[in-house]
Amino acid sequence: MAAPNPRILPYGTVAIAAAAAEIARGGIVGIATETVYGLAADATDAQAVARIYAAKGRPSFNPLIVHVADLAAAESIALFDDDARALAAAFWPGALTLVLPLSPGAPIAALVVAGLSTVAIRVPAHRAMQALLAATGKPLAAPSANASGGISPTCAEHVAASLGAAVPIIVDDGATQRGLESTIVAGRTILRPGPITADLLAQFIPGVRASHGDGAITAPGQLASHYAPAKPLRLDAIDARPDEWLIGFGAIGGDDTLSATGDPIEAAANLFAALHRADASPRGSIAVAPIPDTGIGTAINDRLKRAAH
Ligand code: TXA
Ligand code: MG
Repeated sequence: MAAPNPRILPYGTVAIAAAAAEIARGGIVGIATETVYGLAADATDAQAVARIYAAKGRPSFNPLIVHVADLAAAESIALFDDDARALAAAFWPGALTLVLPLSPGAPIAALVVAGLSTVAIRVPAHRAMQALLAATGKPLAAPSANASGGISPTCAEHVAASLGAAVPIIVDDGATQRGLESTIVAGRTILRPGPITADLLAQFIPGVRASHGDGAITAPGQLASHYAPAKPLRLDAIDARPDEWLIGFGAIGGDDTLSATGDPIEAAANLFAALHRADASPRGSIAVAPIPDTGIGTAINDRLKRAAH
């Protein structure tokens, strides 16, 4: 028997009710957020969480982000210090994940944190994820909804293409606004650059610095090859070599562009979809124009370096 395809349901009461029912029975669902699409399950149910790892083919040492409706819900799961409270007040709901000590007795399945004593937690701003949190009344563990090592999904079709029948329901709310995964901060260290830039963070936590992968603290998911497309990728390209698919930016045109006007916010939103198109193109390899390494450009270049690895 052929495996059934996922049901892609447009955001609305029907989709949220179906997704909440799937979560309540210990299942997994694909769902839109403002960063990338997530693959969600009840974070208090170890078997449900195991289904996330299985669907993604993710190494089990790689912990997941817990999504909650608001700061009060977050404070019942993680221990906040003054820095964390300041960041939550400034950037939640939104594209910031905080790594904090797990509260003793918090009802989070051990598999979510993969054995760590810390938990990564985020209050998302997106209506679909917020509606699912309200409908289930549960904290939801949700990594990006792609097969492990693949490109993060910024639309429902990416989720279906990457995970197929492993995910029964996808709540479709169009292309994601941010287009990059959330910024992850532990203490005053940025573990993963993202939409909330270092300059923004520094207004609330002076001296914030990037993790240099020295092994002291790292996000396990920041493996060098995490964002790999299937084809070789060349960075800082100003024109296409034979058999290359050129992804342009600003004045550098190409087969595709991240932003014809050179807008880094637009480029971030387009990045993963452009990599998907490049992978699907008839050319054997991919080239990408230079992106200025400031503001959110830092996060774009972080993802591109990993994709080129
Ligand atoms: O925008 C996002 O963050 C999306 C949406 C769905 O919310 N989620 C996402 O999840 O990108 P994922 O699983 O693809 O990336 C989570 C990252 C991984 O690099 C993981 O290693 C790291 O968070 N992480 C999770 N818990 C951690 C912890 N306790 N300490 C350090 N890093 C942690
Ligand atoms: Mg991911």
